[in-house]
Amino acid sequence: MEGSVRVDAPADPDGAGEAVVSQKTGTLYGVGMGPGDPDYLTVKAMRVLERAPVLVHFCKRGKRGNARTIADAVMRDPAREFPLAYPYTTELPPDHPDYVAALAGFYDEASDRLADHLGAGRDVAILSEGDPFFYGSFMHLWRRLKDRFPVEVIPGVTGMSGCWTRAGTPITWGDDVLTILPATLPRAALVERLKGTDAAVIMKLGRHLPKVRGVLAETGFLDRAVYVERGTMAGERVIPLAQKPDDSAPYFSMVLVPGEGRRP
Ligand SMILES: C[S@@+](CC[C@H](N)C(=O)[O-])C[C@H]1O[C@@H](n2cnc3c(N)ncnc32)[C@H](O)[C@@H]1O
Repeated sequence: MEGSVRVDAPADPDGAGEAVVSQKTGTLYGVGMGPGDPDYLTVKAMRVLERAPVLVHFCKRGKRGNARTIADAVMRDPAREFPLAYPYTTELPPDHPDYVAALAGFYDEASDRLADHLGAGRDVAILSEGDPFFYGSFMHLWRRLKDRFPVEVIPGVTGMSGCWTRAGTPITWGDDVLTILPATLPRAALVERLKGTDAAVIMKLGRHLPKVRGVLAETGFLDRAVYVERGTMAGERVIPLAQKPDDSAPYFSMVLVPGEGRRP
C-alpha cells in the first residue's frame, strides 16, 4: 500500500547490465473518517492513516477541518500532512459564478498538487468526514484524478447514521421510504420531496433551519422531527425539533424524521 519506487532488472536493451528504475504511481485513498467519534473509524481507515506518506484534509481558511479533528486520536505526525483550504465556504451562494469558478480552480490546483505526489509514487490519503462518496468534497478530487491513478475508497459511518444512533431512533421500518434532502433546496422543492415519503433526513441546515421547520409543519412531520447537532462529537445536542426554542444551527447539524412503518 505504501508509495514505493520499484527497482526492476528486466531485459536490458543496451546490454550494459544496469538496473532499470521503474516508478510505480501512488494510490489515492478516500478515507471515510466517520461522523465524529474516532471510535467509529474503521480498521481499514486506521491502517491507511498509519501508513500513507501524504495525508490531506479540507478546511475553512484559518480553521481546522472536522475530518482532521477526528484524526487527532490516531495521528501524531504533522510532517506527513497538509490542509486544503477552501477559497469560500458560506460567503457566497454555491450557484454564484464567482463561487463556481473559485471552487473549480481550487479543485484543479489541489488535484495537480496531489498528482505530483501520486506521480512520484507516494500514496495520498484524503480524510473525509463521514463517508467519502456521500456529499463529500473528496469526490471533486476523485473525479479529476481517477483516470490517471489507482484509487481506493474506504467507506465510513455516515453523519446521518451517527445522528440517528445517538438520537436512539431507528430511521426506517418495513417498507419505509427514506428521503435525504439538503436544506439548501428551495422551500417548494422541500415540500414536494417530502410529500409521500415515510422518513427523512434533512442535512446542511445552518441558516436554513427556519425554512425547514416551516416545511415540516406544512407536511405534517414537525411532531416527529428530531434535531441533532454535532452527532457523536464533543458538544453533541439531541432535541425534538418542536421543543428547540431557537432557529440557530451550526454546519454539523441535521433533522431526522423517523419512519413509522411495519413493526410486527
Ligand atoms: C457536506 S455533508 C458531508 C456528509 C458526510 N460525507 C457524511 O457521510 O455524513 C455535511 C453535512 O452532513 C451533516 N453531518 C455530517 N456529520 C454530522 C454530524 N456528526 N452531526 C450532525 N450533522 C452531520 C450536516 O448536515 C452537514 O451539513
